[in-house]
Amino acid sequence: MGSKIRLGILGGGGDSLIGVLHRVALSMFDRYELVGGVFNPKWEENIGFAEQIGISTGRVYKDFETLISEEVKLPKAERMEVISVLTPNFLHYPMAKKLLENGFHVICEKPLTTTYEEALDLKKTKDLSNSIFAVTYTYTGYPMIRQMRKMIEEGELGEIQKVDVQYFQGWINPIIHDAEKRAATWRLQPEKSGISCCIGDIGTHAFDMIEFVTGLKVKQVLSDLNYVYQDNQMDVDGTVLIRFSENVKGVIRASQIATGEENSFIVKIYGKKAGLKWNQENPNYVQYLQEGKALTVLKPGHAYNSALSLDGTKLPPGHPEGIFDAMGNIYKGVAKAIKGETYDAAEYPSLEEGMRGMNFIEQTVASHIEGNIWKELD
Ligand SMILES: NC(=O)c1ccc[n+]([C@@H]2O[C@H](COP(=O)([O-])OP(=O)(O)OC[C@H]3O[C@@H](n4cnc5c(N)ncnc54)[C@H](O)[C@@H]3O)[C@@H](O)[C@H]2O)c1
Repeated sequence: MGSKIRLGILGGGGDSLIGVLHRVALSMFDRYELVGGVFNPKWEENIGFAEQIGISTGRVYKDFETLISEEVKLPKAERMEVISVLTPNFLHYPMAKKLLENGFHVICEKPLTTTYEEALDLKKTKDLSNSIFAVTYTYTGYPMIRQMRKMIEEGELGEIQKVDVQYFQGWINPIIHDAEKRAATWRLQPEKSGISCCIGDIGTHAFDMIEFVTGLKVKQVLSDLNYVYQDNQMDVDGTVLIRFSENVKGVIRASQIATGEENSFIVKIYGKKAGLKWNQENPNYVQYLQEGKALTVLKPGHAYNSALSLDGTKLPPGHPEGIFDAMGNIYKGVAKAIKGETYDAAEYPSLEEGMRGMNFIEQTVASHIEGNIWKELD
């Protein structure tokens, strides 16, 4: 295993939602050491947060450009090796691009960028580098999601014929009806968030999940989005019909105005032989539905699970693991890649998956704007 990987963080300050998830995940398998970063654009908050979490302030920088220019001056054995980009969406592209150009590995939050064009450009930059690039579609790190992928890969469901994914949240409901609150929410501002709120923020998780578990590629989308108010530029709800082919279809139902819902991400996949159902709010149970047989419930940590699923389970069965562990599994996969160890391609979502996500977001919004028509994905 060798020495710990030196990691820096951009964003993810004390005021953020996602920072704590990454900090817990990076320390989970003792593979990384957090050595510095830029946690906040305001210097006092930035340095104050570093002191609060007990890391040396010597490598806390005022902005990402300074982080890069100072870190590359350090001997290779001291320099940060990988940087996690946890800022609002519009900063992902400029930060990730410059990091790649300067030889850093990157772990980037989703959505990868704010446009598909930026994502394609990032791919070009990455292909010219020797860097590892991960996009944190966190839910792919759950052991039972990994189990679903392996069962489908091994043909236990037979040919896939129907996919239904729901991702419902309610947190935008009290915001959308209040213009002041709307203006204070970066996810509802195109210049910070990109062209979509609901589809970009959570629809993209649903899309990635479908391709991750089925191994199939979505070919076409047709969407009906809801902006609720005419002066609101960003979708907060949407239904997207998806086609893998003429005979294999599905639907993504995403909403951030599903009043009272928390993080209701439900994945249902049906094949010719069997079906699988999983619910993010209860992630350690997968329902296995088979024609003419009693319902089977699969759980993590048992020998009947795949090696990939078992690799993502740390404790014996019956000890619930959750979202922190899912992100920890992704960080573990990235550590294996950085250290040149063998790993399963499913252990972390790559830049290609991030790029597919941007293609999906753009075509889904275009479908709605152009009158709810079918749009092709690349
Ligand atoms: N994988 C997931 O399931 C998941 C969940 C939530 C959020 N996210 C993604 O994580 C990203 C951040 O979301 P969030 O909810 O944590 O946002 P947030 O607004 O809660 O936090 C953003 C953080 O970035 C910092 N920041 C802003 N500008 C910066 C700059 N120029 N330099 C350094 N730091 C800066 C802020 O100070 C804050 O600490 C988004 O891209 C979002 O889509 C992913």
